[in-house]
Amino acid sequence: MHDIIQQLDKKRAQARQGGGPKRIAAQHAKGKLTARERIELLLDEGSFEEWDMFVEHRCSDFGMQDQKIPGDGVVTGCGFINGRLVFVYSQDFTVFGGSLSEAHAQKICKIMDTAMKVGAPVIGINDSGGARIQEGVASLGGYAEVFQRNVTASGVVPQVSIIMGPSAGGAVYSPALTDFIFMVKDSSYMFVTGPEVVKTVTHEEVSAEDLGGAITHTTRSGVADLAFDNDVEALLMIRRFFNYLPANNREKPPMREAGDPADRDDYSLDTLVPDNPNKPYDMKELLVKVVDDGEFFELQPEYAKNIIIGFARMDGHVVGIVANQPLVLAGCLDIKSSIKAARFVRFCDAFSIPVVTFVDVPGFMPGTSQEYGGIIKHGAKLLYAYAECTVPKITVITRKAYGGAYDVMASKHLRGDVNFAWPNAEIAVMGAKGAVEIIFREEKGDPAKLAAREAEYKEKFANPFIAGARGYIDDVIMPHGTRRRVCRALTVLRDKKIEEPWRKHGNIPL
Ligand code: HXC
Repeated sequence: MHDIIQQLDKKRAQARQGGGPKRIAAQHAKGKLTARERIELLLDEGSFEEWDMFVEHRCSDFGMQDQKIPGDGVVTGCGFINGRLVFVYSQDFTVFGGSLSEAHAQKICKIMDTAMKVGAPVIGINDSGGARIQEGVASLGGYAEVFQRNVTASGVVPQVSIIMGPSAGGAVYSPALTDFIFMVKDSSYMFVTGPEVVKTVTHEEVSAEDLGGAITHTTRSGVADLAFDNDVEALLMIRRFFNYLPANNREKPPMREAGDPADRDDYSLDTLVPDNPNKPYDMKELLVKVVDDGEFFELQPEYAKNIIIGFARMDGHVVGIVANQPLVLAGCLDIKSSIKAARFVRFCDAFSIPVVTFVDVPGFMPGTSQEYGGIIKHGAKLLYAYAECTVPKITVITRKAYGGAYDVMASKHLRGDVNFAWPNAEIAVMGAKGAVEIIFREEKGDPAKLAAREAEYKEKFANPFIAGARGYIDDVIMPHGTRRRVCRALTVLRDKKIEEPWRKHGNIPL
């Protein structure tokens, strides 16, 4: 017995050493924490329970039979974040570069399977050279086993990926299948083919950072949701982010008693929107004034800035917020913003998070680049996402709601539950100037007549009452009372249920 215990201690110590002090020092020298240090920061102190510490690879090629490190390059297990259960894997770059062997994959699959059985989120910390080169197809098979579980778990338990080192080749597809991707600046990168291959194939010279670093993926590609300055900041922010997620698709996100009264009025909102309809204003100002304690956890803030998405609480309950941003491209919907918001709405819908939509949208973005890029198909994604969404949907039109974009942005016709408009809202097919230039084309030579027509159109349509008269708007509310009214609507809708006809699944325009 004594021998076995000694052996156990030795194995544990060996596993904790990972790739050894030299490689750990190299990891630290790059400004990166080790796999275990990351887990310690992510989880509540002392809550981590490690599984499969003794797993070793089974490869005997290329001298691998003599190189076995218990744990095989990934630390897996479960623990708590703010007292809530979560399953975690953290790849250890100090062990074979964190590369994925068959055994390494099986460890990840085991925690994913258990997370599914018990209904708990999975957080994956990625820091890996990709497929274990010595293992060949066994490693590729391991990846695909993980991918399959990512897909099976999608919409069942929340899945979060943190990229804290390399993630290259097919390895990028596991994070890509998860709900959220967070990256660390200057030390993480994701690409399907690295700079060398890019140079050979397309003759482009590009650094790893420019090709697939955190800034690239949070500003240009939209692959990642947020970029953090270092490992510590990333892990602490993800602990905060976790508070917005439910454990699984049968539970609601955790409620937190708000110190902020649900009936708090904010009179500064009455002057937020400028009189001139062509003047922009910052929609974020409205969001922080309306949500609990001004706390808005924005996602993808540097990508498709014409639409804002993120989580907040209202009267203590988590809500997903989608809002047009008049400061950027006048808040138009384009390809990127449609995709960004559509995916977010679908996440909220899958996980019982009500969607609150703030609308100030002049329409879809015109132009050849949008049409050739497929705005028809991509705009339809947002339309589809809102239309299929069955969680409570509350909409507030703060100014413009023109054309097809009016329909798309959680309108009454797409099963919006409570649709409000501010008194200055303009709900019409298009702006007055554009409208009269089309319907009174023959009067174009007479500016005075055209101006009169424009004034008439404005008088008739630049208000919320025509939509109100049809019941498309449930009430016209004062801006200062927005928080009160939205909180109230959320309370009314808390037990909302919708029965859908049977189908295997819909066919969202991908
Ligand atoms: C086995 C690997 C490895 C791998 C790195 N190592 N990647 N071992 N399989 N894929 C080992 C190295 O041999 C080295 O071992 C240690 O990890 C650290 O690697 P370094 O190269 O010293 O580190 P660094 O200079 O930081 O470079 C990191 C790297 C580089 C850029 C990730 O290691 C690299 O290019 N690796 C190969 C990447 C790759 O081509 N992977 C396959 C991609 S295809 P020692 O013993 O010296 O410390 C793929 C397909 C997936 O993943 C398909 C899924 C469908």
